[in-house]
Amino acid sequence: MSSYIRRKTPGQTDWLVHDRFGMFIHFGLYAMPARHEWIREREDISDEDYEVYFKHFNPDLFDAKDLARRAREAGMKYAVLTTRHHEGFSLFDTQYSDYKITNTPFGRDLVREYVDAFRAEGLKIGFYYSLLDWHHPHYTIDQCHPLRNRPDAMQLNEGRDMKIYAEFMRNQVRELMTNYGKIDILWFDFSFKNTWYNGKYAFLDGGKGKGPEEWESEKMIELVRSLQPHIVINDRLGIPQDTVTPEQRQLGTWPKYDNGEYKTWEACQTFSGSWGYYRDEMTWKSPEMMIQMLIKTVACGGNLLMNVGPCARGYIDDRACDALDVYAKWMKYNSRSIYGCTMAEPEFKAPDGTYLTQSEDGKRLYVHLFSYPFKTLVMDNIGDKIEYAQFLHDASEVQYQLDTTPSNLPAGSYRDADPTTENRVNFTLPVVKPNQTVPVIEIYLK
Ligand code: GLC
Repeated sequence: MSSYIRRKTPGQTDWLVHDRFGMFIHFGLYAMPARHEWIREREDISDEDYEVYFKHFNPDLFDAKDLARRAREAGMKYAVLTTRHHEGFSLFDTQYSDYKITNTPFGRDLVREYVDAFRAEGLKIGFYYSLLDWHHPHYTIDQCHPLRNRPDAMQLNEGRDMKIYAEFMRNQVRELMTNYGKIDILWFDFSFKNTWYNGKYAFLDGGKGKGPEEWESEKMIELVRSLQPHIVINDRLGIPQDTVTPEQRQLGTWPKYDNGEYKTWEACQTFSGSWGYYRDEMTWKSPEMMIQMLIKTVACGGNLLMNVGPCARGYIDDRACDALDVYAKWMKYNSRSIYGCTMAEPEFKAPDGTYLTQSEDGKRLYVHLFSYPFKTLVMDNIGDKIEYAQFLHDASEVQYQLDTTPSNLPAGSYRDADPTTENRVNFTLPVVKPNQTVPVIEIYLK
């Protein structure tokens, strides 16, 4: 059994930790300008000018079943959809706002279609819910609001009441927590208390930003847990809950609490540099990078939530389909090193150019060959622990020899530059790298 102690939190995280890999879906009006989901803020767009997208929103090719199938094929076991992003537009048929998808030409409750289709494919269901809202009349203009540069920004804030806004959020979240059956994850986004842009826009609110006080996070958490007691809640309400969620960052170690307990964490990442559909953004990650990111995350005890941003007609474009196919192809043969796996026990040292994962029950060790060595892979401190070794993708045996080369070879011997250490093993690999983006050696331990 894995010896790591994960902190117990109120939500059910065991399935999440086992499943490791999920799909993030960012969809909203911002898919139409197709220049980042923060377009309203980046370009200081007024409500009136943004209205044109609401008026013409019609993702006629949205096909929740197709997306759910692609997610499953990519090896993703759960999904998180933006039910409402910072622009304040709801993708569900809420009673508390007219700024919702059922009032656009599209006219359908997209959240409902998502829930039904993803559930039917056997995936767990997550909702993203933005704490920011650039449309709500009571949400005060702050340092990251599209109207922050208006000369009358301060005056516009007069009469805005965050208490009314916090209640509005609770009303919407109650709808989300009661109208769609069992929900597995609620992913709030985000708090920015005393951080970020403060200097320049401090005049708006004294540089306070917004956090648990403004969101009334405690009340929100209480409400959610009373309706869906098992649900996993992330950390972005500003009060630690079940998961921590580093964004667009590759962690190199498993985050811990001060008392040594491990955090349940989930990295969220994008295929290219934006969450929402961004037509002209070209920094699409290579297949190697995508697969390596998943492995490295699990090798540090974490989950990966990988994002797709459908275009404004509702489908995911070729670039995103190709990216999902990279995962589908690799996961079809190699998912055993991901599901139910975690950081390898510290006694195992990853050979140069490799990353290790280990099954939670401790019985299988996986060596991921990021750089493919010539003929021999040398691994220390494992000689007496191997029962059997094979490539994971085709279950072909990987032979190995215990390296008995004495450490006191006479000078001039052809091996003397590479003296053995205790318990060293040489795995014999084919010279030609198997046709896998990252080949994996599966070691059954004694
Ligand atoms: C951020 C961004 C946002 C994105 C999210 C995903 O905080 O504001 O656009 O939805 O991260 O983690």
